[in-house]
Amino acid sequence: MGESMKGLTRSHRCTEVTEAMIGQTVTVMGWVQKRRDLGKLIFVDLRDRSGILQVVFDSQTLPKDLFIKAESIRSEYVLAVCGKVASRGPEGINPNRITGTIEIHVEEFRILSEAETPPFEVMENSGVKDDLRLKYRYLDLRRPDLQKNLMTRHQVTALTREFLNQEGFLEIETPMLTKSTPEGARDYLVPSRIHPGHFYALPQSPQLFKQLLMVSGFDRYYQIVKCFRDEDLRADRQPEFTQIDMELSFVEIEDIMDINERLLYKLFKEVMGVEISLPIPRMTYQEAMDRFGSDKPDVRFGMELVDISEIVKESEFGVFKNAVKNGGSVRGINGKGCGNFPRRQIDSLGDFAKDFGAKGLAWLVVEEDGSYRSPIAKFFSEDMLAQVVDAMKGEPGDLLLFCADEKDIVYDVLGNLRLELAKRLELTKQDEYQFLWVTEFPLLEWSKEQERYVAKHHPFTMPMEEDLSLLDTEPHKVRAKAYDMVLNGVEIGGGSIRIHQRDIQEKMFKVLGFTKEEAYKRFGFLLNAFQYGTPPHGGLAYGLDRIVMLMTGAESIRDVIAFPKVKDATCLMTEAPGTVEGKQLKELHIAPVAQEE
Ligand code: AMO
Ligand code: AMP
Repeated sequence: MGESMKGLTRSHRCTEVTEAMIGQTVTVMGWVQKRRDLGKLIFVDLRDRSGILQVVFDSQTLPKDLFIKAESIRSEYVLAVCGKVASRGPEGINPNRITGTIEIHVEEFRILSEAETPPFEVMENSGVKDDLRLKYRYLDLRRPDLQKNLMTRHQVTALTREFLNQEGFLEIETPMLTKSTPEGARDYLVPSRIHPGHFYALPQSPQLFKQLLMVSGFDRYYQIVKCFRDEDLRADRQPEFTQIDMELSFVEIEDIMDINERLLYKLFKEVMGVEISLPIPRMTYQEAMDRFGSDKPDVRFGMELVDISEIVKESEFGVFKNAVKNGGSVRGINGKGCGNFPRRQIDSLGDFAKDFGAKGLAWLVVEEDGSYRSPIAKFFSEDMLAQVVDAMKGEPGDLLLFCADEKDIVYDVLGNLRLELAKRLELTKQDEYQFLWVTEFPLLEWSKEQERYVAKHHPFTMPMEEDLSLLDTEPHKVRAKAYDMVLNGVEIGGGSIRIHQRDIQEKMFKVLGFTKEEAYKRFGFLLNAFQYGTPPHGGLAYGLDRIVMLMTGAESIRDVIAFPKVKDATCLMTEAPGTVEGKQLKELHIAPVAQEE
């Protein structure tokens, strides 16, 4: 049930009504956040996307029938309210609200829509379970914090378009029903009705199409585009997410970095009022791994990895000695001032390390008197211990943590331990923004499962010229013209210069173990296109959701996406994915395989 607006026209959003308008008549429309009934006076907090405004129904001034109607108002009813802007008495002032000094004295109003009692109150931090919120996402989205997140998201896309348009980019759409793209995740497939047994893939990115647009001569392309990847969900991963995707012709890495630094500068300045200092620092992949154990280091704090392999390789401690002997390494981090951690907490760090593949986590406390406490001290000479502590810059009160293993495991364990310690010690400030380019990624990565090299970025990424000769002899040493943009330990974007010479591309496929036929079967349309005049080109794509997550301080990209999915990739509101009728499956030539229990 509900009345029509009957000639009432909205004159302002709730918080557009200001003190300067006292005495004027305004019409506002919105939802009832709260109603307080004092008998002769009824106060209603009216909410729209701009915020909250107090409106007052007074039995002394309103006609009786209208006041009776006002008495029926409940939470989340939709109202149209017309009345005079008035000053609140001093005792009525709410300093926490922009409209806290004023109210509307209602002269006329309509109940545009009644509402059932909502399953939870529309407010932040009300302790309601996430699952319930997501089932009623349209109600949850009435929350001011979520509304603000989506407004920030809008601002980011609008400013991005403005900036890239000015820089001579063209926004061009690419297909959603397409063939598999080489980003390395699992594809979402769409069955073809007309071609039995054939499937479209939803794009993991517009990578191949944007390269083709360069072949066509569009020169500078961008798109704010949905991408689909069937991978395990995490706080910063959704099965469908949005990229700010771009590609440019006749450019080198420097040109791409320059444009993107200015784009990020504009976004953070205009959305956050934060001035990023340019140029954004750069760090090679190798340096990032050696110092931070991660290719997306959070550089807001230190606690860097220290390689002590050389010092301990001759020690009596088999674990350390053998790790070095077998080509691995021993590294540590210095938990500054954590020497007073109770044993329980040190053990829990050990358990944490094991989750990342560590076989153990050795530790050493430098006591206040300069002596050492450690379960492994007995294996080392005093001199060797002193060297270790010295290398780690250990001082009284410090907790030194060590991991010995294959290099990759050591990096992963200590890289994550470093983040965990920073969290426990609250070392990071949320409003500090540390951007970093990570450069010179390895071109290839050895896949144990597939027993072959796979492209670390994708197979069209250009090797660094100085490493080209290694492609035949030591492919694992080849570095790529690939770069990631990292913000506070989150990979917000990545890209590369592409291969535009056929001989290099063919060599690349060979290293990846594709025969020419296989390469043509998968990417023939791109390889053919490259025969008809290809400009040197390169590009980059950002995860829009991740950028907005960091800007808003949200804990998950879920909070910056209007209708997100949960961990098992379902949508709790629509209950997607769902089953379909047999008839539909038949048309699509699909017979589901019975699931074993
Ligand atoms: P890449 O695979 O690195 O590069 O993706 C670019 C950026 O997209 C974001 N991202 C995601 N965000 C949310 N959920 C996901 N599942 C997800 N996967 C990726 C990340 C990432 O940095 N075509 C290349 C770009 C190029 O070379 O130009 C590409 O897609 O922030
Ligand atoms: P153990 O002799 O196996 O009892 O190990 C002695 C100490 O070394 C324990 O604190 C273990 O956690 C630690 N440790 C075991 N394996 C490793 C490893 N690979 N790297 C670092 N520390 C280890």
